[in-house]
Amino acid sequence: MRLLFLGPPGAGKGTQAKRVAAELGIPHIATGDMLRQAVAEGTELGLQARAIMERGDLVPDNLVIAMLLERVGRDDATDGFILDGFPRTIAQAEALEARFGGAGLDAAVVIEVDTEEIVRRISGRRVCPNGHVFHIDEAPSSTGGVCDQCGDSVYQREDDRAETVRNRLHVYRDLTEPLIAFYGARDITMHVIDGVGGVDAITDAIMAALNS
Ligand code: AP5
Repeated sequence: MRLLFLGPPGAGKGTQAKRVAAELGIPHIATGDMLRQAVAEGTELGLQARAIMERGDLVPDNLVIAMLLERVGRDDATDGFILDGFPRTIAQAEALEARFGGAGLDAAVVIEVDTEEIVRRISGRRVCPNGHVFHIDEAPSSTGGVCDQCGDSVYQREDDRAETVRNRLHVYRDLTEPLIAFYGARDITMHVIDGVGGVDAITDAIMAALNS
């Protein structure tokens, strides 16, 4: 099954995609995580992406498409995957169509959260370098500044500062939200999920929708 999780920054795509991927036994492929890893490792891609991500703009399509197509070609993705953060533009969606045929996907999960809640979530988000995610109120690390899962330090993402979040929201509305209409016009199942509420309840709602 090839699934897409779509929604604004901070909607909970990563939180939910990890859980659903574990339930379905398919990989969670998050282009934001892959790009942050490239930045941390100082690769050629990371050097090109770093300033763009810090501004909250999109990394050029050609770079992200090449990275994603290489990832979905690996053995663990043969039976399907959950995409989180890709596609983000119509050009990226068309690259997926060209790679897999048809719409490139079987279903999309659209997670809806209002802007006030998004700002609250993003301003309180803390992460560790290995991609574990916390929230200072909702899901704090029990050891404060240290990751419960790997023991590394926990900090605020560079692009989670208020002025960058505003730009990320504009970029989402201008370039990524049109994908809802793009996929709505194609032969895939769209599941619209209310992303406000408890994390477990939202996972249950997504699983029920996917199994329906
Ligand atoms: P990316 O990492 O994809 O960021 P994003 O889409 O903006 O998504 P976020 O990671 O901010 O949010 P999320 O929806 O995953 O929420 P989360 O689960 O963490 O991209 C970053 C950058 O990389 C982009 O700006 C761009 O520059 C570049 N990039 C990436 N992909 C690209 C592409 N395809 N093309 C071009 N450029 C690309 O949850 C948020 C917080 O809320 C957490 O603290 C969490 O604990 C908390 N939370 C989660 N669920 C709940 C709940 N139900 N109730 C309360 N709190 C909750």
